[in-house]
Amino acid sequence: MDKNDEELKWYEIKAKKRMRGSPKNNADENKHGSKSEKGKEKSGEREFEDGKKNAKKSTGKFSESSGKKRYSGKKETLVAKELGSILDPSSIPDDAKKILADFKSIIEATHPLNSKQRALLSQKILELSHTLTDERGQRRLGYMNQPATLAAYTHYFLWWNLVRLTRLFSNLPDDFFSLSEDAVCLDSGSGPLTVPIALFLSRPELRDKKLKWYCMDISSQALSIGENLLLSVAAKLEKESWQIVRVKGDFGDDIKEKADLITSANVFNEISDGSDMPPDYLAKKYTDGLLSYSSGKDGAKVLLIEPGVPKSSRLLSLMRDSLIRKKYFPLSPCPHFGDCPMDGKRGGKWCNFAFSVDDAPTALKKISDSAKLPKTRAVLSFVAAEKKSGAEAESDEKNLVFRIASDPIRLPGHRTGFYACSKIGLLLVVTESKLHSGESLCVPMPKSEPEIDEKSGAKIIRC
Ligand SMILES: C[S@@+](CC[C@H](N)C(=O)[O-])C[C@H]1O[C@@H](n2cnc3c(N)ncnc32)[C@H](O)[C@@H]1O
Repeated sequence: MDKNDEELKWYEIKAKKRMRGSPKNNADENKHGSKSEKGKEKSGEREFEDGKKNAKKSTGKFSESSGKKRYSGKKETLVAKELGSILDPSSIPDDAKKILADFKSIIEATHPLNSKQRALLSQKILELSHTLTDERGQRRLGYMNQPATLAAYTHYFLWWNLVRLTRLFSNLPDDFFSLSEDAVCLDSGSGPLTVPIALFLSRPELRDKKLKWYCMDISSQALSIGENLLLSVAAKLEKESWQIVRVKGDFGDDIKEKADLITSANVFNEISDGSDMPPDYLAKKYTDGLLSYSSGKDGAKVLLIEPGVPKSSRLLSLMRDSLIRKKYFPLSPCPHFGDCPMDGKRGGKWCNFAFSVDDAPTALKKISDSAKLPKTRAVLSFVAAEKKSGAEAESDEKNLVFRIASDPIRLPGHRTGFYACSKIGLLLVVTESKLHSGESLCVPMPKSEPEIDEKSGAKIIRC
């Protein structure tokens, strides 16, 4: 038994023990404090003792009441610097926006529907939506090989996924996509090549590179439609397509080369569905499986995207832990390499990012409406990690970087709060500024312990 097997065995034993205690998953958890926040936060009992230049000075005193440290004094506001967003719509290249708006014409040319399929499209979309979400048990492995389902996926779900992924990929740090001219990439559970297509659209600097993509899926039809779609997109952009190697196979099957970039979107929630093993066991198993495809060199990248729901977010958070243990450190969305404070454990927050779909393609929203699936926002969870064998813990003690990972929360006194992730844990950022999910900001590090939000346990930061 090698070290890896031993470790897996250990997880297995741990998992079985836990299953006897049988905690349920947290899929039915309520979202970000929506029930909740009213009346919880006491106004006027604030916050930081901070003599820093950037902070307004406070003059109050600490007192101990009911075991909690409180600070009664003047309200104090830290000056925040904006560091950018992972969901900024203005980062999407104009030519990509144009193609996305008219993606229907590309799909119809590549994957035309007969009149019967056209008539049944809305119904099939609705059915597939249920099997992908609330009726997962009824989904058959290889559902993408059924013509009606594949048509629904290609004409609808693929398009929405492109909307989500182009928004994200256009905003990920440039460093993350600094691939060599002839880099080898693997997209696992590629379906109709959603990830490579979204990347081609989002990152003009990669379009002229001779990337070689191994696209792996158990559905060969989906791969073949996807390859044609990528060719059409590249042609529209007057570029050559990347080299695509279609791999009809199961996750774990061999590929011929090691990859510099490994991607996977909307797959592990599906693969994990059939398993009764707990998520930490699965996360380790999937991470090991993915990394077996990696070149393992410094700079090798892994990009995982999943639906922004608690169960998937939990799995991703655990995969992030496993990646860190293998020295693949998260470049985004996490502003730190420490424990994930939005790990989706029962009762806790889960890491997800949402944006309004007001500017999504009108034709796509029309399909949503006719399928009785109207949408106002898109949500995702993700982690983008890079191998760095010499990475060290962050040393900046002067600043606190955080990423907003919630909708606005109404607080008493006409104030607004947002949950955010930081190296000191979960934050409740109280602000009058209009912040958005996915934005990253930096404030001076509070010198004393911030007050704790009673409901969430988050540290309260005012900026
Ligand atoms: C929801 S689709 C996602 C497709 C694409 N990545 C996207 O984001 O649009 C999930 C894909 O995973 C594939 N899949 C499921 N189990 C798999 C497995 N064990 N090995 C490889 N692919 C798998 C399915 O065939 C399907 O194409």
